[in-house]
Amino acid sequence: MSFTEQEKEILNRQLPAWVEASKVRSSYGKTASYIPELAKAPQNALGIHLIDTTGNTISSGDCSLSFTMQSISKVFTLILALMDNGEKAVFEKVGMEPTGDNFNSMLKLELVRPGIPFNPLINAGAIAISSLIHGQNAAEKTSRILSFFQSLAGNDTLTYDMEVYRSESDTANLNRSMAYLLKDNGVLEGQVEEVLDVYFHHCSIQVNCSDLARMALVLANNGIDPITGASLIPRRYVQIAKTFMVTCGMYNASGEFAIQVGLPAKSGVSGGILTMVPGRFGIGVIGPALNTKGNSIAGVHLLETLSREMDWSLF
Ligand code: DON
Repeated sequence: MSFTEQEKEILNRQLPAWVEASKVRSSYGKTASYIPELAKAPQNALGIHLIDTTGNTISSGDCSLSFTMQSISKVFTLILALMDNGEKAVFEKVGMEPTGDNFNSMLKLELVRPGIPFNPLINAGAIAISSLIHGQNAAEKTSRILSFFQSLAGNDTLTYDMEVYRSESDTANLNRSMAYLLKDNGVLEGQVEEVLDVYFHHCSIQVNCSDLARMALVLANNGIDPITGASLIPRRYVQIAKTFMVTCGMYNASGEFAIQVGLPAKSGVSGGILTMVPGRFGIGVIGPALNTKGNSIAGVHLLETLSREMDWSLF
């Protein structure tokens, strides 16, 4: 369904002011620095792009900024792993519950038996998912992921930011220790370093807000790209992905986000947020300064404003 005339009128008139008001929040956050390359992002940037199912777009702010998908990629590797292996095999390796812990916590891998990650959107779960992607070797798995993402974004120029890839790979002591623990718990298939290489590659796929919005639009439209008519994801897997986005997509801030925004969403430490109004729009946001939970501080504020003003909460 397209933007209504009233929505168009309000968004064209108000969105730039909402972006400016949310941008001010950036000074209360910080760009991620545990991946050193991410600290170089412009701290005060904020941009948003929306696309409806007939291809109308509205954007505002710093939309031309490129950034890496980071954890946003986990939604789509989960979907590809489901398409490769089916539900049963995937959920033998990862659970379906929120953790209430940080995205990079490994606490519950030892605390709760069996030692499988609680869900596919925390780092431990996403690393387990990377090991389920089909392919002869890391290069083939990585390239299958990139092609899948290109088809979802309708953009065959999507590629990796190799600076960010190297920066993460060189400093990923925590993810590495987690992956070895998962291997010992019998969760990871294949060689640990190969799995991590696939994971670091998909986290470093470079996008802008319009790529995110287009990928979100496919989810909003139950797996069919409304622009081309191509059927890209089985509906059941979209349903699983969207449910995880509601319960775990913003990590240990998912409950608050559900109350304040009420839309399925996934954040990344680059400051990106992918969200959607199901059946209607795909939305991509970038704001590199993060809050203490690892979500874009200005981006979350902007989505809270939009959802409240436009009455877009699903609940
Ligand atoms: O593994 C990591 O730590 C990053 N590649 C991704 C983490 C992330 O984006 C968490 N999101 N807020």
